[in-house]
Amino acid sequence: MQNQSLYGTRGRVEVIKGDITRMEVDAIVNAANKSLLGGGGVDGAIHRAAGRDLLEECKTLGGCETGRAKATKGYKLPAGMVIHTVGPVWRGGDRGEPELLHSCYVNSLELAVQRDARTVAFPSISTGVYGYPIDKAAGIACRAVKGMLEQYPPEKLEKVYFVCFDDRAYKTYMDLLSIFD
Ligand code: APR
Repeated sequence: MQNQSLYGTRGRVEVIKGDITRMEVDAIVNAANKSLLGGGGVDGAIHRAAGRDLLEECKTLGGCETGRAKATKGYKLPAGMVIHTVGPVWRGGDRGEPELLHSCYVNSLELAVQRDARTVAFPSISTGVYGYPIDKAAGIACRAVKGMLEQYPPEKLEKVYFVCFDDRAYKTYMDLLSIFD
């Protein structure tokens, strides 16, 4: 039985297989590095799609600590905003990685709410170059997002998308969706 302060999450989460740079949402989340000056993977794709002005704004942010998040405009992206977060590098799981990854999702959504971004799309943070096992990372992502959707009403946080770039990630998230029931 849900108490009054919790909000239904079913229907406010969607798993998509595709390219996050094409998402027409209020904010897309970038899996960045501490410099915030671009890189490969989804970071590279977002910077390529947004154009050079994104890097120019990132240069003014002074970097970002692991687990934290900073926002910029979306520039040429269909998304209005990019929330840059820095995931933990996987080192076996007993160096605080789960807590830091959880913080990436929570802090990104807190920042989205602060900036009135009601629809937010996430990539699978840390599961590429940073080596975080997708099954562990997806579970952390879903639990963190579920908590935030229960904390904020749809007027504040309408919908969260998990945008998966490959079939393995897509299947992993799809298998976890039932936690939002
Ligand atoms: N859309 C959605 N997801 C994508 C895209 C895309 N266009 N491109 C890659 N991905 C997925 C990857 O398949 C992976 O599942 O994003 C996930 C995160 O992988 P990375 O981009 O490698 O990010 P991460 O593992 O967090 O490593 C961050 O990589 O690119 C550098 O500058 C970045 O140093 C930082 C590090």
